[in-house]
Amino acid sequence: MAEPRIGIYGLGTMGAALALNMAESGIDIAVSNRSEGAIAEFMARAEPFADRVTAQATLEALIAALPTPRLLLAMIPSTAPMDGFLEQVIPLLAPGDTVIDAGNADFHATRARSTRLAEHGLHFVGLGVSGGEEGARHGPSMMFGGSEESWAGLKPILSRIAAQFDGAPCADRMGPDGAGHFVKTVHNGIEYADMQMIAEIYDLLRHGAGLAPAAIGQQFARWNDGPLESYLFEITGKVLSYDDPLGGGPMVDAILDRAGQKGTGRWTAIEAVTLGQSATMIEGAVAARAWSAEKALREVAGGALGSERAGFAPDMEELEAALLAARILEYAQGFRILAAASEEYGWQLDFARIAEIWRAGCIIRARLLDDISGAFRESPPEGQLFLAPRFAPVLARGIPALRRLVSEAIAAGYPLPVLGAALGFWDTLRQPRGTAALIQAQRDFFGRHGFDRVDGRDAHHGPWWD
Ligand code: 6PG
Repeated sequence: MAEPRIGIYGLGTMGAALALNMAESGIDIAVSNRSEGAIAEFMARAEPFADRVTAQATLEALIAALPTPRLLLAMIPSTAPMDGFLEQVIPLLAPGDTVIDAGNADFHATRARSTRLAEHGLHFVGLGVSGGEEGARHGPSMMFGGSEESWAGLKPILSRIAAQFDGAPCADRMGPDGAGHFVKTVHNGIEYADMQMIAEIYDLLRHGAGLAPAAIGQQFARWNDGPLESYLFEITGKVLSYDDPLGGGPMVDAILDRAGQKGTGRWTAIEAVTLGQSATMIEGAVAARAWSAEKALREVAGGALGSERAGFAPDMEELEAALLAARILEYAQGFRILAAASEEYGWQLDFARIAEIWRAGCIIRARLLDDISGAFRESPPEGQLFLAPRFAPVLARGIPALRRLVSEAIAAGYPLPVLGAALGFWDTLRQPRGTAALIQAQRDFFGRHGFDRVDGRDAHHGPWWD
């Protein structure tokens, strides 16, 4: 048996899927897990690739089995367990070795861990992995953050197991330390916005137009044959076609309307605000999930305030144009956060490349990403996607459609935290003179905070207190 090229610690759903992907891709691996039961279970699944997989009963044995410089990938929770793990492995590793955190981590933690490991001459990699279990098993999109040296070691492995788009792997180095985990976090923020946008349209078609879930699913499947083609549209079409095996009726009706969240969407919103940005579509999606959790309150409020809504007559072509415009704006917001972080942390993120590696394998893969990468390569005015010439005709048609959709839906009583936010963003940024003069006047009035004058004259307070 050949020497393992990489060690994988943590054989839960994602760790096992990545390990099996590597073994199937012809990469020799060594694996271990905290509980031995999971190792035996994994080895049974890895049977077809048994000649490429060695199991080690302990972390110490796993590390000892790896050739130096070692590549040790940990798929364990990126919170306290990761810190505990690092404390355990630091004394067992040698300078030049690399530890990879392939979970969804807060990039601040990744930056701190990189610094901590660098004190020992070790590399720490924050690897964003997208695509769920299926992606990890058969080809995820991967966002690497770490040193050039550790990328050189990992690139051949990651390129081999990544999703491929037009023959090129959807894996690349985003930048140093937390860059990979940050890009993955923003990926998830966009994922939240796209999912919520879909849910808003579903609500309108279901309750406003009175369509059955299966019919709405067919509509999503039709849209998925056009410019809105994307993984999330595809699975929405499928999900809505299922009936509840336990009770009959549409499966979606049997599911409690309370969305979970592990935190990455929230992190995106927090980081956007911290960076002086605002990703209102992503924030809207995070808010919608939080409000969804307040089920008991909504029951009370619905009874007290009334939950009736008017009808909505959909024009599917108009909706398609509106959704495409909204999707451009949601990606535009995501990339603006990436741009702000790149500037703040000196990462020099390559936006076209990021769009490219999101074209396959990840949850937000979408036909639109091809155009987005093209738009970035053409250097859009001010670096803004929504100003890219190639999107001008799509937006010229889509924004009026979105405006009609949002105004009719809001008039009929439907909440649109994401689609409504798209218009707020668009309409704010296209105003050369906005509303902030009044905000500044108010600030100066109550706190003498001062303002700049449009004529540039050196007078920074109003006459309120003269
Ligand atoms: C991916 C997903 C993946 C996972 C999220 C879900 O890219 O593969 O984003 O990371 O599905 O953890 O996040 P929530 O639980 O917050 O919805």
